[in-house]
Amino acid sequence: MSSDAIDQALAQSGHLPGGLLQVLHGIADRLGHIPPEAIGRVAAALNLSRAEVHGVVSFYHDFRSEPPGRHVLKLCRAEACQAMGSEALAGALERRLGCKFGETSPGGAVTLEPVYCLGNCAAAPSLLLDGQLRGRLTGERLDRLVDALVA
Ligand code: FES
Repeated sequence: MSSDAIDQALAQSGHLPGGLLQVLHGIADRLGHIPPEAIGRVAAALNLSRAEVHGVVSFYHDFRSEPPGRHVLKLCRAEACQAMGSEALAGALERRLGCKFGETSPGGAVTLEPVYCLGNCAAAPSLLLDGQLRGRLTGERLDRLVDALVA
């Protein structure tokens, strides 16, 4: 399964100039993450070192090395959202979900990630839940949102 996804991504974009990012996005789109075995396979196919591929994977926050939870919640931690209380929400989320940013809650319900401006500053604080933008968050609204995710 992951081997097929890696092959498909390489076949689709591996020949393109600067195709590394596209190959990695192709794998992430198909699998939701970049599995460890992809590093060596992509490096060999693109004539790069494993360190080069690993460096790109770890540089971009969008590339995960482990499968995400059933939901992905990205809380904006940039300036406008911070000014509207996102740091308090961040702490509440970590306590409620029992995981830190960059981790998945026990049981696999939610992967919690930071994001730095969603272009929704006018409705700060904001988050993306499974790709859907939500704004004007309050502790209460966030609680209700999380209730639905972990139910
Ligand atoms: Fe959070 Fe812009 S700073 S949406």
